[in-house]
Amino acid sequence: MDSGPAQDQLLSEQRAYYRALAADYPDHLRGLPGGAELTGALDAFRPAGSVLELACGPGTWTPRLLRYADEVTAVDASPEMLAIAARRVPQGAPVRFVEADLFTWEPDRRHDVVFMGCWLSHVPAGRFRSFWSLVDAALAPGGRVFLVDDRYRNPAELVEGPGSSTIQRRTPDGTAYRIVKISYDPAELESRLRELGWDITVTPTAGPLFWGAGTRAGERG
Ligand SMILES: C[S@@+](CC[C@H](N)C(=O)[O-])C[C@H]1O[C@@H](n2cnc3c(N)ncnc32)[C@H](O)[C@@H]1O
Repeated sequence: MDSGPAQDQLLSEQRAYYRALAADYPDHLRGLPGGAELTGALDAFRPAGSVLELACGPGTWTPRLLRYADEVTAVDASPEMLAIAARRVPQGAPVRFVEADLFTWEPDRRHDVVFMGCWLSHVPAGRFRSFWSLVDAALAPGGRVFLVDDRYRNPAELVEGPGSSTIQRRTPDGTAYRIVKISYDPAELESRLRELGWDITVTPTAGPLFWGAGTRAGERG
């Protein structure tokens, strides 16, 4: 299901899931084994300058990005998530929140850093290449990318089988939604990115998490 109405429906369900979940969205990653490593890696990376945060959710990472960034543009499809994120950042902080669907959104400028927290695993395999074209279009020459994500799988959510990237999640009221969740092997992700012209080192943590940092190939400082 790489394109077409069925995938559009799945992506619409994915947006609806996160809209419905916003108030109950858990700050789950940092509690998982390896969570502290992610934060340490981001601090060492120092996301300075102009930062674009893709799928910011309820601002899980936005305040941390603001420790280093001159300004942050934070994009998410869910107005509910964006409202929570806006409350999490200090008043007057240099953040621009943008409500948009990342599968149609076009960046209006280039940034020094593109950051994505737990987003890449929600991009369908058939849109991997076009998604990275979006990152390329949003990144200044010499710009840097930082991503964090997880390979965590709950057997109960594998309703289409362990090999499927469509899983089922429920909101606390029990409503079921289908979403995309790709379980990346860090080394494989690194080599797929290399094929697309990215030099991004993907590092697994002690737990089910991983992080990646890098640039376009040949641009590493
Ligand atoms: C797993 S959450 C990640 C939130 C945050 N970055 C974090 O690390 O906790 C995924 C986010 O993607 C957003 N999202 C889902 N589909 C989207 C789309 N098509 N365009 C933009 N954002 C989308 C959801 O609203 C949700 O906030």
